Amino acid sequence: MAVEQKNVTVMETVENNPLHLEWTPLEQNLRIYAKEHHVPIIVDEGLAFLEQIIRISRPKKILEIGTAIGYSAIRMQKVCNSEVVTIERNHTMVEQAIQNVSSANVSSKITIIEQDALEAFEQVKDYTFDLIFIDAAKAQYTKFFEMYTPLLSSHGIVVTDNMSFHGLVHEEDLKDQSRSVRGLIRKLSNYHKFLLNHASYDTSIFEIGDGIAVSVKKE
Ligand SMILES: C[S@@+](CC[C@H](N)C(=O)[O-])C[C@H]1O[C@@H](n2cnc3c(N)ncnc32)[C@H](O)[C@@H]1O
Repeated sequence: MAVEQKNVTVMETVENNPLHLEWTPLEQNLRIYAKEHHVPIIVDEGLAFLEQIIRISRPKKILEIGTAIGYSAIRMQKVCNSEVVTIERNHTMVEQAIQNVSSANVSSKITIIEQDALEAFEQVKDYTFDLIFIDAAKAQYTKFFEMYTPLLSSHGIVVTDNMSFHGLVHEEDLKDQSRSVRGLIRKLSNYHKFLLNHASYDTSIFEIGDGIAVSVKKE
């Protein structure tokens, strides 16, 4: 059955909806599905921030690393009618994303690549991207950045989500965390330093949503 594509706001008054986000019924269903099935999609505040970056920079082509069920790809695409290429390694997620992108009537604008992003460079190497959204395995963020930023246009933007990792990146006492979480936090902290010290990018890290880094290519 076709889903009606009418825009709806969750909060009813402007005062209660400072992010000014609206969702189609399909997008609402994706948010509900993600919550019920523990799919970690971008939080509302992070999404509003990302969408404003897109409104300001008007990217023609966007690369996303970490599609999940296609929620952020669908949202990013429609802000400025950009083309989106998105990479996802989980087959079940890819199947759902294809279905959701089709239901949103944007299959011609969103290309989904089913592959580990660390092995997908060949598939996108001929493209130039104006914005790269990194939202996949946190431990691999530095590798994703190094692998895909050569494809970024001049003054292009890299947006990285989950920089705070539920606040844990700023925790000094991590002894109650598992070894794997501590390892992940260490890698994410190293990614913070890597971005802030990168000679070719101006980066600011914002305490918005789960922490978002915005890195702008200097030339
Ligand atoms: C946080 S979710 C993405 C959420 C999505 N961007 C959204 O906000 O709607 C991260 C996704 O990245 C995928 N992923 C993790 N590491 C990956 C990798 N190395 N290559 C491709 N996909 C990866 C996971 O399977 C998961 O679906």
